[in-house]
Amino acid sequence: MNKLITFEGIDGSGKSTQIKLLCEKFDELGIQYVSVREPGGTQISEKIRDILLDKENLELSSTAESLLFLSARSQLVSEIIRPALKENKFVICDRYTDSTLAYQGYGRGIDTKLLRMLNDYATTKLIPELTFIVDIDENTSSQRRKDFVEDRMEAGGMEFLSRITQGYRKIVSEEPERCFIIDGSADKPIIFNQIWKIINEKYQDTK
Ligand SMILES: Nc1ncnc2c1ncn2[C@@H]1O[C@H](COP(=O)(O)OP(=O)(O)OP(=O)(O)O)[C@@H](O)[C@H]1O
Ligand SMILES: [Mg+2]
Repeated sequence: MNKLITFEGIDGSGKSTQIKLLCEKFDELGIQYVSVREPGGTQISEKIRDILLDKENLELSSTAESLLFLSARSQLVSEIIRPALKENKFVICDRYTDSTLAYQGYGRGIDTKLLRMLNDYATTKLIPELTFIVDIDENTSSQRRKDFVEDRMEAGGMEFLSRITQGYRKIVSEEPERCFIIDGSADKPIIFNQIWKIINEKYQDTK
């Protein structure tokens, strides 16, 4: 059992909102944690993030895109996540391996079996204990993001988003022990209560 908790879901689903609430709760209770986002979280990974999100990089292939996400993740795991877990801290990660399956796999059509192998390679098989998949439909997503400038990954269009939503739902059905689907259209505090309840149940015997 580890203390890695990841948040997944399409753009605008409410991942960052819920992570902020969780960090506040941990702060309140004096629980030690590290909070990171993907792609990024280390100096090298943030540089890779810039390449991935730059809208000018139109020629970036799906394969190169996948490998860049995995490179950024690999660096984040070895430099930040593993050391923090070793110190018995919680690690909250905004996107992780399931984003690769959902976006590059179900979204772009790369073989998910291959991506699972690459995820294992990049993370030295570090699997989260808990993953929250914040689920909203693509219309809610575009409504919530209408005032923001899109990055390269967000500019994929509605069909792309719809495939990713379906992909996430498939991931939950394949790994129900680890993944919890949360209705992201509910009110923020209601969603957080659900998340907090699941975390408490999972870690009730942990110090
Ligand atoms: N449950 C909710 N109900 C209504 N609006 C919400 C809810 N959760 C988040 N929002 C709003 O939707 C927008 C996107 O939320 P947030 O930034 O948390 O999403 P995200 O999943 O982190 O998106 P991204 O993938 O783009 O980082 C924000 O304006 C936020 O206030
Ligand atoms: Mg966010």
